[in-house]
Amino acid sequence: MKNNIPRIPLAQLPTPFYKLENISAELGRSIYIKRDDMTGVSLGGNKVRKLEYLLADAKEKGCDVVITTGGAQSNHAMLTAACCRRLGIEPILMLKKRGVLGRKGNLLLEALMDVDVRFVDTDSYDDVYVEMDKLADELRAAGRKPYLVPVGGSVPLGTLGYVKCAEEVFAQAKAADVKIDRVICTAGSGGTLAGMVLGTMLYGGGAAVTGIAVCEDPFEEIVAELVPETAKLMGEDVPLTPAEVDVRRYYGAGYAQPSEEGLEAVRMMARKEGLMLDPVYTGKTFAGLIDLCRKGEIKENETVLFLHSGGAASLFAIDPEAVVK
Ligand SMILES: Cc1ncc(COP(=O)(O)O)c(C=O)c1O
Repeated sequence: MKNNIPRIPLAQLPTPFYKLENISAELGRSIYIKRDDMTGVSLGGNKVRKLEYLLADAKEKGCDVVITTGGAQSNHAMLTAACCRRLGIEPILMLKKRGVLGRKGNLLLEALMDVDVRFVDTDSYDDVYVEMDKLADELRAAGRKPYLVPVGGSVPLGTLGYVKCAEEVFAQAKAADVKIDRVICTAGSGGTLAGMVLGTMLYGGGAAVTGIAVCEDPFEEIVAELVPETAKLMGEDVPLTPAEVDVRRYYGAGYAQPSEEGLEAVRMMARKEGLMLDPVYTGKTFAGLIDLCRKGEIKENETVLFLHSGGAASLFAIDPEAVVK
């Protein structure tokens, strides 16, 4: 991927790519995995790739404090804090007071990193952004230089991290003489899906991308906006319409609420491959993959890539067996 956009290498790359032999036998398709749960900062996960670009931008701009947001158990917020610690930038997290609070999961990791965590009692990120702006003004008045990262880091700069991931995984597949027909990844705030869509258009040799939505946001529109904007940063012109974006919805009762299908997926991956998914993102995404196989929408001769985007910390806060019906 050629561009002059500053990037700080934070992740251990390339992350592993290999065939899930037991899952492939179970589902009757060739299923490969990209282990972005092993990006190598804290407990790993997809956000590290986005933060390579976002924190490089923060550094370039001379910022000394980064403010971001998410739900109470946000993996993105935890990884932003971890990457900031590594770079010697102060992180401040303004989290929605929703979900599992207390010294559990990602909040425990943030306590261990001695992170300034604040809560906003709201259902809307618009309210959180107002508070983030207020805090940024206070910090500026005190002589600091804050850098604000929106939820999930799903802006064009962050999305570049997943264009790079797509380039990396298609190169790994080529070296292993594997032709990937379809990529399956999570859509939580949309940047990972947008990056994989753009990267697959550029480097994927005609592969399809299916995003699995784990919350109600309109990802077709979000991706159709992010893809051309991200391409522009790379000097490319890549138009995309919402109708060209394939999103399937598997959020069950709602965001961060464990589902029956997600639980089956978490168990299947644990019992067949000894790998851990999570109840909020990757479990539901893998549930989507299983369902599309069972319905025959993923055909028997297809070779599928499952992007494992991390999230294991929430297993220690949200019990996937506590299914909400
Ligand atoms: C483990 C995990 N997977 C997937 C996602 C979704 O990525 P995105 O926000 O880029 O849609 C997230 C987002 O927080 C995540 O934490």
